[in-house]
Amino acid sequence: MGIKFTVQGEAVQKTEIFALSPEVRRCHEALHNKTGRGNDFVGWVDLPENYNKEEFASIKKAAAKIRRDSSVLIVVGIGGSYLGTRTALEFIKSPYYNQLKRDTPEIYFAGNNISSAYLNDILQILGDRDFSINVISKSGTTTEPAIAFRIFKQLLEKKYGKEEAAKRIFATTDQTRGALKEMCNEQGYETFVIPDDIGGRFTVLTAVGLLAMAVAGVDIDAVMDGAKAAMESYSNPNIQENECYQYAAMRHLLYKQGKTIEILANYEPHLTSFGEWFKQLFGESEGKEGKGIFPVTANFSTDLHSFGQFIQEGGRYFFETVLWCKEPKTPAIIPYDEADGDGLNFLAGKEMQFVNNKAFGGTMLAHMDGGVPNMVIQIDRMDEWHFGALIYFFEKAVGISGYLLEVNPFDQPGVEAYKKNMFALLGKPGYEALKVELEKRLAD
Ligand code: PA5
Repeated sequence: MGIKFTVQGEAVQKTEIFALSPEVRRCHEALHNKTGRGNDFVGWVDLPENYNKEEFASIKKAAAKIRRDSSVLIVVGIGGSYLGTRTALEFIKSPYYNQLKRDTPEIYFAGNNISSAYLNDILQILGDRDFSINVISKSGTTTEPAIAFRIFKQLLEKKYGKEEAAKRIFATTDQTRGALKEMCNEQGYETFVIPDDIGGRFTVLTAVGLLAMAVAGVDIDAVMDGAKAAMESYSNPNIQENECYQYAAMRHLLYKQGKTIEILANYEPHLTSFGEWFKQLFGESEGKEGKGIFPVTANFSTDLHSFGQFIQEGGRYFFETVLWCKEPKTPAIIPYDEADGDGLNFLAGKEMQFVNNKAFGGTMLAHMDGGVPNMVIQIDRMDEWHFGALIYFFEKAVGISGYLLEVNPFDQPGVEAYKKNMFALLGKPGYEALKVELEKRLAD
């Protein structure tokens, strides 16, 4: 397995982790036998093997068409219909994917906020270039992507006419239900399916993530191969041999010690978006019924110069999980300088990754000395295979971790509260009484 999990220091002993073996096995069985809470939404467990191969081929075909006829792809979606896709692009390619030299379309993400300035910026960048849209929404009714889709669809129809525009819209949505699905049926958009038994935050290895990845020239077969290898490796119920389960158990033990915040730290800007995806996966899965570990991310060494002080010496209610990548995507050597005004010649000829590695080791020890429990999840490199494998590692970990916490890790009832208030305040029909009540509260 190209992923290695280790526990650092003494905060939790290996024996304590292994002592959780009966509980972990119970959670494993609930997940695999579909007898646990939320068992209607565990389709992701065997997805790397049981995905729809016919649709997979159609995704590649659609991606090839988009690459042929479009300079830009606008990907519209939010939450689980956005974060994984962006993460894939930045992890496998680069946060600078759009600026780097390539022969694939630029990709922009819209509908993940309600900012008019953000939307106008994308419209300006797009200009009058040829483009296609991949609109992603499981429910097909989410406000943010619906607004963005309306705007980009109208632009597309104005530019190409309704018929040609329809050939440039690719919708990823529910198989049968929802407003978007109805539009697809009416307008004849090519559609890809978000399976019924996979919740939004677990969908990156479905068409949700795969279409944009394929457009960007990502080898999606390798992504699924990595996920499959992880699926096989982490379906071992024996915690002593299953590092994913060790991670889930370790989180649980730390939570019981009062460590209620997890910082997922990285040392690569290519992993920043991965942290955003992680926040949704763990936050939505575990934060309920008054329980859960609050997920936070840190981008090192950048953040060592911001909230590093707090991590070192602030309140001791968190632990740190470092996502470390062994090989840099591309190497860079620190040059020799005759004058040595900055005193850096002792590093001349060394690779930047050498320095990054020492920053990682030094920081980890300092944080541990400061009382912060540390774990490391190490991957060899940031490529397709490791992306698929790492996604699966965290999905499986949150499934087990959520069951250990005795919550339903596959629902998200709390996400509706803000939507109800927003609809009422916007004057959506059906919310009249709530509108009056909320407006009164806001005016007080
Ligand atoms: O995980 C979830 O269910 C949410 O974050 C959704 O992914 C998000 O709200 C977008 O929903 P939809 O795909 O229905 O537009």
